[in-house]
Amino acid sequence: MRQRHKPWADDFLLENNHIVIPNAKENKGKWQSVFKKNQPIHIEVGTGKGQYLVGMAKQHPDINFIGIEVAKSIIVSAAQKVVDAEVDNLLLLNENAADLREMFAENEIATIYLNFSDPWPKNRHEKRRLTYRTFLEQYKEVLDPEGKVIFKTDNRGLFEYSLVSFSEFGMLLEEVNLDLHAIEDPLNVMTEYEEKFAAKGQVIYRSRASF
Ligand SMILES: C[S@@+](CC[C@H](N)C(=O)[O-])C[C@H]1O[C@@H](n2cnc3c(N)ncnc32)[C@H](O)[C@@H]1O
Repeated sequence: MRQRHKPWADDFLLENNHIVIPNAKENKGKWQSVFKKNQPIHIEVGTGKGQYLVGMAKQHPDINFIGIEVAKSIIVSAAQKVVDAEVDNLLLLNENAADLREMFAENEIATIYLNFSDPWPKNRHEKRRLTYRTFLEQYKEVLDPEGKVIFKTDNRGLFEYSLVSFSEFGMLLEEVNLDLHAIEDPLNVMTEYEEKFAAKGQVIYRSRASF
């Protein structure tokens, strides 16, 4: 995603530290107490500009959402959307999601969304793919036993790689959708990337898997 230097970003994030929560690790195991209501927590890794989670937060007021985005210049756009939408069930973390276990306790999360994650197509970058087995190990730990990993992408190579990775890890594939937009689904919330790729006529893939 394109990043622009935004010199005002630090001030904006400080003003909105009730939405973009600093020092995420301090809340490990205590995220429920940061939200207004005690209800299942779903997280998105690589939230980008926040369109997906804002849409999901409006559609599902009975779920608490947390978006994790490493780029400061991008998360400010997501934070602005949360301010505008006035939702109280969505928080953001300006963190690198390299190890979710630093931020979340065992079983603390009900669902993990991976939307249009960077594909890292070169073989030597396999370990950076968010569906590589070391990431699956962490997802398994922070997810509750019924927890789901829901993955959307336009990248066929990454999708196929991920299905194999899920299976080799012993995960149960509950859904494999090879053309998400073939049938209109009013409940499907589109991400920024999804809108962009779908407009170009690209196929969108989705899977749902559990441990
Ligand atoms: C290709 S974009 C997709 C954005 C959004 N999910 C969408 O579908 O429109 C991937 C995003 O993941 C973020 N990202 C990549 N690695 C990350 C990491 N380790 N921790 C947090 N965010 C990450 C990038 O900064 C970028 O904004």
